[in-house]
Amino acid sequence: MDTLTLTRPDDCHLHLRDGPALAAVLGDSARRFARAVVMPNLRPPLTTVAAAQAYRERILAALPAGSDFEPLMTLYLTEATPARELEAAKAAGMVGVKLYPAGATTHSDAGVRRVEAIYPQLETMQAIDLPLLVHGEVTDPAVDVFDREAVFIERHLAPLVARFPGLRVVLEHITTREGVAFVRAARPGVAATITPQHLSMNRGALFEGGLRPHHYCLPVLKREEHRAAVLAAALSGDPKFFLGTDSAPHPRGDKHSACGCAGIYSAHAGIELYAEAFEQAGALDRLEAFASHHGADFYRLPRNTGTLTLRRAPQAVPESLPFGDDRLVPLRAGGQLAWRLVE
Ligand code: NCD
Ligand code: ZN
Repeated sequence: MDTLTLTRPDDCHLHLRDGPALAAVLGDSARRFARAVVMPNLRPPLTTVAAAQAYRERILAALPAGSDFEPLMTLYLTEATPARELEAAKAAGMVGVKLYPAGATTHSDAGVRRVEAIYPQLETMQAIDLPLLVHGEVTDPAVDVFDREAVFIERHLAPLVARFPGLRVVLEHITTREGVAFVRAARPGVAATITPQHLSMNRGALFEGGLRPHHYCLPVLKREEHRAAVLAAALSGDPKFFLGTDSAPHPRGDKHSACGCAGIYSAHAGIELYAEAFEQAGALDRLEAFASHHGADFYRLPRNTGTLTLRRAPQAVPESLPFGDDRLVPLRAGGQLAWRLVE
Protein backbone atom coordinates (compact mmCIF):
# COMPACT_ATOMS: atom_id res chain seq x y z
CA MET A 1 0.00 0.00 0.00
CA ASP A 2 1.77 3.12 -1.22
CA THR A 3 -0.99 5.62 -0.77
CA LEU A 4 -3.22 6.13 2.18
CA THR A 5 -6.50 8.05 1.98
CA LEU A 6 -8.23 9.09 5.17
CA THR A 7 -11.24 11.14 6.13
CA ARG A 8 -9.75 14.59 6.61
CA PRO A 9 -8.31 14.62 10.17
CA ASP A 10 -8.69 17.13 13.01
CA ASP A 11 -5.91 18.35 15.29
CA CYS A 12 -7.45 18.43 18.75
CA HIS A 13 -4.59 20.39 20.40
CA LEU A 14 -2.73 23.12 18.54
CA HIS A 15 -0.77 26.31 19.31
CA LEU A 16 -1.01 28.82 16.47
CA ARG A 17 0.51 31.89 18.20
CA ASP A 18 -0.27 35.31 16.73
CA GLY A 19 0.95 37.97 14.29
CA PRO A 20 3.83 37.01 11.97
CA ALA A 21 4.32 33.69 13.81
CA LEU A 22 0.69 32.75 13.14
CA ALA A 23 1.06 33.65 9.47
CA ALA A 24 4.20 31.51 9.25
CA VAL A 25 2.75 28.30 10.70
CA LEU A 26 -0.98 28.31 9.93
CA GLY A 27 -0.67 26.90 6.40
CA ASP A 28 1.06 23.75 7.66
CA SER A 29 -1.97 22.86 9.80
CA ALA A 30 -4.57 24.09 7.30
CA ARG A 31 -3.14 21.88 4.53
CA ARG A 32 -3.54 18.76 6.63
CA PHE A 33 -6.38 19.26 9.08
CA ALA A 34 -9.97 20.37 8.52
CA ARG A 35 -10.23 21.77 12.06
CA ALA A 36 -8.06 22.32 15.09
CA VAL A 37 -8.75 22.94 18.75
CA VAL A 38 -6.71 26.11 19.20
CA MET A 39 -5.00 26.73 22.54
CA PRO A 40 -5.58 30.05 24.32
CA ASN A 41 -2.14 30.57 25.91
CA LEU A 42 -1.32 33.78 24.08
CA ARG A 43 0.18 36.74 25.84
CA PRO A 44 -2.13 38.10 27.24
CA PRO A 45 -4.11 34.84 27.59
CA LEU A 46 -7.56 34.53 25.99
CA THR A 47 -9.62 34.81 29.17
CA THR A 48 -12.65 36.40 27.50
CA VAL A 49 -14.92 35.35 24.67
CA ALA A 50 -14.33 38.71 23.00
CA ALA A 51 -10.56 38.14 22.97
CA ALA A 52 -10.98 34.61 21.64
CA GLN A 53 -13.35 35.77 18.90
CA ALA A 54 -10.96 38.53 17.83
CA TYR A 55 -8.17 35.92 17.71
CA ARG A 56 -10.38 33.66 15.60
CA GLU A 57 -10.85 36.49 13.13
CA ARG A 58 -7.06 36.98 12.93
CA ILE A 59 -6.62 33.26 12.25
CA LEU A 60 -9.24 33.30 9.50
CA ALA A 61 -7.61 36.40 7.97
CA ALA A 62 -4.20 34.69 7.95
CA LEU A 63 -5.44 31.54 6.15
CA PRO A 64 -4.06 30.73 2.70
CA ALA A 65 -6.53 31.67 -0.05
CA GLY A 66 -9.19 29.03 -0.60
CA SER A 67 -8.59 27.22 2.69
CA ASP A 68 -11.68 26.03 4.55
CA PHE A 69 -9.76 25.29 7.77
CA GLU A 70 -11.89 25.88 10.84
CA PRO A 71 -10.32 27.00 14.12
CA LEU A 72 -12.20 25.67 17.16
CA MET A 73 -11.67 28.15 19.95
CA THR A 74 -10.97 27.62 23.65
CA LEU A 75 -11.08 29.89 26.68
CA TYR A 76 -8.20 30.25 29.17
CA LEU A 77 -9.53 29.42 32.64
CA THR A 78 -8.57 31.49 35.66
CA GLU A 79 -9.77 31.41 39.25
CA ALA A 80 -11.67 34.62 38.45
CA THR A 81 -13.51 33.44 35.30
CA PRO A 82 -17.16 34.42 35.81
CA ALA A 83 -20.03 32.04 35.02
CA ARG A 84 -21.38 34.48 32.44
CA GLU A 85 -18.12 34.20 30.45
CA LEU A 86 -18.47 30.41 30.38
CA GLU A 87 -22.08 30.71 29.26
CA ALA A 88 -21.05 33.19 26.57
CA ALA A 89 -18.29 30.81 25.43
CA LYS A 90 -20.81 28.00 25.03
CA ALA A 91 -23.21 30.28 23.17
CA ALA A 92 -20.39 31.44 20.86
CA GLY A 93 -19.58 27.86 19.85
CA MET A 94 -16.29 27.65 21.73
CA VAL A 95 -15.41 23.99 22.24
CA GLY A 96 -13.69 23.99 25.61
CA VAL A 97 -12.00 25.72 28.50
CA LYS A 98 -8.31 25.14 29.18
CA LEU A 99 -6.94 24.56 32.66
CA TYR A 100 -3.26 25.45 33.01
CA PRO A 101 -1.86 24.95 36.49
CA ALA A 102 -0.03 28.26 37.12
CA GLY A 103 3.62 27.84 36.23
CA ALA A 104 3.23 24.42 34.60
CA THR A 105 4.16 25.47 31.06
CA THR A 106 4.55 28.26 28.48
CA HIS A 107 2.33 31.28 29.29
CA SER A 108 0.62 29.57 32.20
CA ASP A 109 1.34 32.18 34.88
CA ALA A 110 -2.25 33.50 34.71
CA GLY A 111 -3.51 29.95 35.24
CA VAL A 112 -4.94 28.15 38.20
CA ARG A 113 -3.09 28.07 41.52
CA ARG A 114 -5.49 25.81 43.40
CA VAL A 115 -7.68 23.36 41.48
CA GLU A 116 -10.36 23.52 44.19
CA ALA A 117 -10.67 27.27 43.53
CA ILE A 118 -12.23 26.58 40.11
CA TYR A 119 -14.90 24.16 41.35
CA PRO A 120 -17.59 26.87 40.89
CA GLN A 121 -16.54 27.26 37.24
CA LEU A 122 -16.56 23.48 36.78
CA GLU A 123 -20.08 23.37 38.22
CA THR A 124 -21.21 25.80 35.51
CA MET A 125 -19.33 23.98 32.76
CA GLN A 126 -20.91 20.69 33.81
CA ALA A 127 -24.36 22.29 33.74
CA ILE A 128 -23.93 23.79 30.26
CA ASP A 129 -21.85 20.87 28.88
CA LEU A 130 -18.69 22.81 28.08
CA PRO A 131 -15.63 20.51 28.10
CA LEU A 132 -12.60 21.02 30.35
CA LEU A 133 -9.21 20.59 28.67
CA VAL A 134 -6.45 19.90 31.16
CA HIS A 135 -2.71 20.41 31.19
CA GLY A 136 -2.22 17.62 33.71
CA GLU A 137 0.95 18.34 35.62
CA VAL A 138 1.52 19.44 39.20
CA THR A 139 3.84 22.37 39.73
CA ASP A 140 4.99 21.32 43.20
CA PRO A 141 8.79 21.62 43.00
CA ALA A 142 9.10 18.71 45.40
CA VAL A 143 7.65 16.40 42.73
CA ASP A 144 10.17 15.06 40.23
CA VAL A 145 9.55 16.51 36.76
CA PHE A 146 9.05 13.03 35.29
CA ASP A 147 6.33 12.25 37.88
CA ARG A 148 4.28 15.41 37.53
CA GLU A 149 1.57 13.93 35.31
CA ALA A 150 1.04 10.84 37.45
CA VAL A 151 0.88 12.94 40.62
CA PHE A 152 -1.55 15.42 39.03
CA ILE A 153 -3.90 12.57 38.15
CA GLU A 154 -3.86 11.20 41.67
CA ARG A 155 -4.04 14.53 43.52
CA HIS A 156 -6.30 16.58 41.28
CA LEU A 157 -7.77 14.86 38.24
CA ALA A 158 -9.24 11.75 39.82
CA PRO A 159 -11.07 13.77 42.51
CA LEU A 160 -12.27 16.30 39.91
CA VAL A 161 -13.63 13.65 37.54
CA ALA A 162 -15.47 12.00 40.45
CA ARG A 163 -16.87 15.27 41.80
CA PHE A 164 -18.23 16.42 38.41
CA PRO A 165 -19.63 13.21 36.90
CA GLY A 166 -21.25 15.00 33.96
CA LEU A 167 -18.26 17.15 32.99
CA ARG A 168 -16.48 16.17 29.77
CA VAL A 169 -12.73 16.23 30.33
CA VAL A 170 -9.73 15.89 28.02
CA LEU A 171 -6.39 15.08 29.60
CA GLU A 172 -4.18 16.76 27.03
CA HIS A 173 -0.96 15.32 25.61
CA ILE A 174 -0.75 12.21 27.81
CA THR A 175 2.74 10.87 28.36
CA THR A 176 2.58 8.08 30.91
CA ARG A 177 1.32 4.59 31.62
CA GLU A 178 -0.61 6.13 34.52
CA GLY A 179 -2.28 8.64 32.17
CA VAL A 180 -3.31 5.89 29.77
CA ALA A 181 -4.60 3.67 32.58
CA PHE A 182 -6.57 6.50 34.16
CA VAL A 183 -8.32 7.52 30.94
CA ARG A 184 -9.02 3.96 29.87
CA ALA A 185 -10.66 3.11 33.19
CA ALA A 186 -12.45 6.44 33.61
CA ARG A 187 -16.17 7.01 33.17
CA PRO A 188 -17.48 7.99 29.72
CA GLY A 189 -16.75 11.63 28.90
CA VAL A 190 -13.08 11.41 29.87
CA ALA A 191 -10.62 11.35 26.96
CA ALA A 192 -7.02 12.17 26.05
CA THR A 193 -5.00 13.61 23.20
CA ILE A 194 -1.71 12.10 22.06
CA THR A 195 1.15 13.97 20.35
CA PRO A 196 3.49 12.57 17.69
CA GLN A 197 6.54 13.08 19.89
CA HIS A 198 5.13 11.08 22.80
CA LEU A 199 4.25 8.25 20.40
CA SER A 200 7.64 8.05 18.81
CA MET A 201 10.30 9.22 21.27
CA ASN A 202 11.33 8.47 24.81
CA ARG A 203 13.38 10.66 27.13
CA GLY A 204 16.58 9.36 25.60
CA ALA A 205 15.81 11.69 22.66
CA LEU A 206 16.53 14.65 24.94
CA PHE A 207 20.16 13.61 25.27
CA GLU A 208 21.00 11.95 21.94
CA GLY A 209 24.68 12.76 21.54
CA GLY A 210 24.19 16.03 23.44
CA LEU A 211 21.41 18.23 24.77
CA ARG A 212 18.51 18.39 22.28
CA PRO A 213 16.39 21.50 22.91
CA HIS A 214 14.07 20.69 19.99
CA HIS A 215 12.96 17.52 21.73
CA TYR A 216 12.00 19.44 24.85
CA CYS A 217 8.31 19.96 25.46
CA LEU A 218 5.95 19.75 28.39
CA PRO A 219 4.99 17.31 29.64
CA VAL A 220 8.55 16.17 29.07
CA LEU A 221 9.29 12.92 27.20
CA LYS A 222 9.23 9.89 29.49
CA ARG A 223 10.84 6.45 29.79
CA GLU A 224 10.41 3.86 27.04
CA GLU A 225 7.78 1.90 28.98
CA HIS A 226 5.59 5.02 29.01
CA ARG A 227 6.07 5.66 25.31
CA ALA A 228 5.04 2.08 24.66
CA ALA A 229 1.88 2.54 26.75
CA VAL A 230 0.95 5.77 24.94
CA LEU A 231 1.51 4.11 21.56
CA ALA A 232 -0.61 1.13 22.59
CA ALA A 233 -3.41 3.51 23.58
CA ALA A 234 -3.29 5.28 20.22
CA LEU A 235 -3.37 1.96 18.37
CA SER A 236 -6.04 0.40 20.56
CA GLY A 237 -9.04 1.75 18.70
CA ASP A 238 -10.44 3.03 22.00
CA PRO A 239 -12.37 6.21 21.09
CA LYS A 240 -11.13 7.91 24.26
CA PHE A 241 -7.77 8.51 22.56
CA PHE A 242 -7.35 10.91 19.66
CA LEU A 243 -4.91 13.07 17.75
CA GLY A 244 -3.67 16.35 19.19
CA THR A 245 -0.27 17.41 17.90
CA ASP A 246 0.48 20.05 20.57
CA SER A 247 2.55 21.66 17.81
CA ALA A 248 4.07 24.57 19.76
CA PRO A 249 6.39 26.80 17.72
CA HIS A 250 9.04 28.94 19.40
CA PRO A 251 11.65 31.13 17.70
CA ARG A 252 14.94 29.28 17.32
CA GLY A 253 16.65 31.83 19.56
CA ASP A 254 14.29 31.04 22.44
CA LYS A 255 15.05 27.33 22.14
CA HIS A 256 18.82 27.82 21.77
CA SER A 257 19.14 29.55 25.09
CA ALA A 258 20.49 29.07 28.60
CA CYS A 259 16.83 28.63 29.61
CA GLY A 260 15.28 27.14 26.49
CA CYS A 261 11.51 27.15 26.36
CA ALA A 262 9.26 24.11 26.07
CA GLY A 263 7.48 23.24 22.84
CA ILE A 264 8.01 21.11 19.72
CA TYR A 265 6.94 22.24 16.27
CA SER A 266 5.32 19.37 14.38
CA ALA A 267 2.62 20.93 12.20
CA HIS A 268 4.83 20.66 9.09
CA ALA A 269 4.42 16.87 9.43
CA GLY A 270 1.29 16.86 11.57
CA ILE A 271 -0.22 13.72 10.03
CA GLU A 272 2.89 12.19 8.44
CA LEU A 273 4.54 11.55 11.83
CA TYR A 274 1.50 9.64 13.07
CA ALA A 275 1.34 7.62 9.82
CA GLU A 276 4.95 6.61 10.39
CA ALA A 277 4.36 5.54 13.99
CA PHE A 278 1.22 3.59 13.13
CA GLU A 279 2.91 1.93 10.17
CA GLN A 280 5.91 0.90 12.23
CA ALA A 281 3.49 -0.73 14.63
CA GLY A 282 1.76 -2.52 11.74
CA ALA A 283 -1.49 -0.68 12.42
CA LEU A 284 -1.91 1.83 9.61
CA ASP A 285 -5.53 0.72 9.34
CA ARG A 286 -6.15 2.22 12.81
CA LEU A 287 -4.95 5.70 11.91
CA GLU A 288 -8.18 7.03 10.43
CA ALA A 289 -10.32 6.46 13.52
CA PHE A 290 -7.65 7.98 15.78
CA ALA A 291 -7.01 11.00 13.55
CA SER A 292 -10.39 11.68 12.00
CA HIS A 293 -13.23 10.12 14.01
CA HIS A 294 -12.58 9.95 17.75
CA GLY A 295 -11.89 13.65 18.30
CA ALA A 296 -14.90 14.80 16.30
CA ASP A 297 -17.10 12.33 18.14
CA PHE A 298 -15.85 13.49 21.55
CA TYR A 299 -16.50 17.14 20.67
CA ARG A 300 -19.88 16.17 19.17
CA LEU A 301 -18.97 17.68 15.83
CA PRO A 302 -19.83 16.09 12.51
CA ARG A 303 -17.01 13.97 11.12
CA ASN A 304 -15.32 15.67 8.19
CA THR A 305 -16.55 14.74 4.74
CA GLY A 306 -13.40 15.50 2.71
CA THR A 307 -10.35 13.26 2.46
CA LEU A 308 -6.60 13.59 2.74
CA THR A 309 -4.13 11.41 0.87
CA LEU A 310 -0.57 10.49 1.84
CA ARG A 311 1.94 8.80 -0.39
CA ARG A 312 4.81 6.65 0.83
CA ALA A 313 7.77 8.65 -0.44
CA PRO A 314 10.75 9.91 1.55
CA GLN A 315 10.66 13.62 2.19
CA ALA A 316 13.49 15.71 3.59
CA VAL A 317 12.70 18.00 6.52
CA PRO A 318 14.48 21.39 6.30
CA GLU A 319 16.93 22.41 9.03
CA SER A 320 14.70 25.41 9.74
CA LEU A 321 11.62 27.23 8.47
CA PRO A 322 10.79 30.95 8.23
CA PHE A 323 9.15 32.28 11.40
CA GLY A 324 8.53 36.03 11.24
CA ASP A 325 11.87 37.72 11.84
CA ASP A 326 13.35 34.52 13.25
CA ARG A 327 13.61 30.86 12.22
CA LEU A 328 11.74 27.82 13.47
CA VAL A 329 13.33 24.39 13.89
CA PRO A 330 10.77 21.68 13.06
CA LEU A 331 10.66 18.19 14.54
CA ARG A 332 12.98 15.85 12.59
CA ALA A 333 14.91 18.88 11.20
CA GLY A 334 17.57 17.73 8.74
CA GLY A 335 16.07 14.25 8.68
CA GLN A 336 13.45 12.45 6.62
CA LEU A 337 9.79 11.57 6.78
CA ALA A 338 8.50 8.33 5.27
CA TRP A 339 5.19 9.77 4.02
CA ARG A 340 4.33 12.87 2.09
CA LEU A 341 1.11 14.76 1.55
CA VAL A 342 -0.56 14.51 -1.87
CA GLU A 343 -1.91 18.02 -2.43
C1 NCD B 1 3.27 24.63 24.85
C2 NCD B 1 3.56 26.04 24.32
O1 NCD B 1 4.71 26.32 23.95
O2 NCD B 1 2.61 26.84 24.22
N1 NCD B 1 4.52 23.99 25.14
C3 NCD B 1 4.72 22.65 25.23
O3 NCD B 1 5.85 22.25 25.57
N2 NCD B 1 3.79 21.77 24.96
C4 NCD B 1 2.39 24.72 26.04
C5 NCD B 1 1.80 23.39 26.46
O4 NCD B 1 0.96 22.83 25.77
O5 NCD B 1 2.19 22.88 27.51
ZN1 ZN C 1 -0.11 22.49 24.25
